[in-house]
Amino acid sequence: MQEKIDRLLEEIQFLTASSREGVEQLRLKYLSKKGLVPLLFEEFRSIPKEQKKVFGQQVNELKSKINRKLDELDASFEDNEEAESPDLDMTRPVDQIQIGSRHPLSIVRNQILGIFSRIGYTVAEGPEIESDWYNFSALNFPAEHPAKDMQDTYFIEKDPDMVLRTHTSSVQVRVMETTIPPIRKVFPGRVFRNEAISARAHCIFHQVEGLYVDVNVSFGDLKQSLFFFAREMFGEETKIRLRPSFFPFTEPSGELDISCNICEGNGCNICKYTGWVEILGCGMVDPQVLANCKIDPEKYTGFAFGMGIERIAMLKYQINDLRLFFENDIRFLKQFQGTC
Ligand code: DAH
Repeated sequence: MQEKIDRLLEEIQFLTASSREGVEQLRLKYLSKKGLVPLLFEEFRSIPKEQKKVFGQQVNELKSKINRKLDELDASFEDNEEAESPDLDMTRPVDQIQIGSRHPLSIVRNQILGIFSRIGYTVAEGPEIESDWYNFSALNFPAEHPAKDMQDTYFIEKDPDMVLRTHTSSVQVRVMETTIPPIRKVFPGRVFRNEAISARAHCIFHQVEGLYVDVNVSFGDLKQSLFFFAREMFGEETKIRLRPSFFPFTEPSGELDISCNICEGNGCNICKYTGWVEILGCGMVDPQVLANCKIDPEKYTGFAFGMGIERIAMLKYQINDLRLFFENDIRFLKQFQGTC
């Protein structure tokens, strides 16, 4: 009996059928009244009592395995029924599969990170909900600074010390607090400001912040690094210009303009007929900020910069309305298919 069971178990593994009728034939062979399985049950009656338990289980198992196998075979014809239909023309061309594409902001963010990674920067990220310390105080914002006004910043209602970060400069502080220089990092992320939504402003946008701290870091290093970035991002011919500016956390501070890549400096409405467009803020990290983060300003110097990804993307792809990035209009997004 054992031999018969084993043989059947082996046999059913390889059962095939070319049609539903074929499956029916198999069902008759194994399970019909005179089929192989009922025959086994008959034999089972005459075996000694003490063997009944072992064989009983095995024959029942065999039966359910055969049932499952036949059901599987049967189901495979269900899937194929369509294919057998005489109306189906297998040579008909199919519609192209619609594949998604990366969002333009992701494309530009990856390009920015890629450029800086080629000159030794690694990537770090920080939280979007920040304490006053990381977003403002450690960065030298005085208590009465207008940026801290409710008009500009989203405060967390339950805890007045917590805000939605207004810039990715907050990640500078987190990294400096926990890293011994040299530090050479970029911080991409989403930031929030209480702004009315228009073609030029949104309450949510994206930035990439950069930070380089080491011994002997100079303003010349800052300028060359940003020059490299501008040319990689906007083309070999791109020129840069630094204008003095003010940020509480850098001294001196500057704003970087690039030569307008649309009119090539001849004047257009993107550059407001100046030939230059602003792309980022930057400067030498204020010694007080280094000290706030427990880095010795006597030993180390550093530079930092911060740019808006939307702004870079708008210049790169000549997009004139910031809201397009957030509306998820497929007609807009489709244009970036194939870019990565
Ligand atoms: N955090 C500034 C902003 O959001 C941008 C910025 C300016 C970042 C100067 C910097 C910097 O690191 O040095 O407008």
